[in-house]
Amino acid sequence: MRIKVLTIFPEMLRPMLEASILKRAIDAGLIEVELVDIRPFSELKHKNTDDYPFGGGPGMVMLAQPIVDAVESCTGEAFRGKRLYLSPRGRTFTQKMAEELSKEDELLLLCGHYEGVDQRAIDLVIDEEVSIGDYVLTGGELGALVIIDAVARLIPGVLGSDESSEDESFSSGLLEYPQYTRPREYRGLAVPDILLSGDHAKIARWRRDRALELTYQRRPELLENIEMDKKDRIFMQALRERHGEA
Ligand code: ADE
Repeated sequence: MRIKVLTIFPEMLRPMLEASILKRAIDAGLIEVELVDIRPFSELKHKNTDDYPFGGGPGMVMLAQPIVDAVESCTGEAFRGKRLYLSPRGRTFTQKMAEELSKEDELLLLCGHYEGVDQRAIDLVIDEEVSIGDYVLTGGELGALVIIDAVARLIPGVLGSDESSEDESFSSGLLEYPQYTRPREYRGLAVPDILLSGDHAKIARWRRDRALELTYQRRPELLENIEMDKKDRIFMQALRERHGEA
């Protein structure tokens, strides 16, 4: 997958792309991330990229011209993918969206700053606005990194077989069960015996029950979309009874 990130602060993204799994994926050619500096596209003498808002108000607004020219320079006839603008007013990014985006050949991520970007740039060259959550960041760069990270790990080969993306929070629709590693006892806290039993069916059941329980306690609304078999339903019934609900 080819990802282009348009920003006036490319240096904000580099460190994340130069470590760990993203670096490995880039080195292996599984993803290609190009950081495109918007500033050189400005036609103004001092390469300004923002100006005061028409109608008054605080802050500055990013100019349409450098953005539109930067996007157009990256997305010729051959561009096959989505052009996204990171913004708190966009559709909230979810695992499902990460899965959808991971199927694209190309992504363009536009990072805004200040009070936003001139609406005409959005109207002309953006397919969709995406928010990474209900809070306001100083710019879209962290949002772009969140999207790159969540999408990249779904691309075949990016995670090793021992880093599988299947058995975890949100891909199953449930929060992840608790994990333990050595030592067997740490500061008086023992690893649950069942995980040392070697009984794979029992371990799988225990993990499923813990995932159901955690989701019930912390994010009960997620349970509405979970397919449950008979054993799941029996466990959930007992859980509700314990909580005085059923
Ligand atoms: N830019 C500023 N806040 C943002 C958010 N919550 N999501 C995406 N981009 C943003």
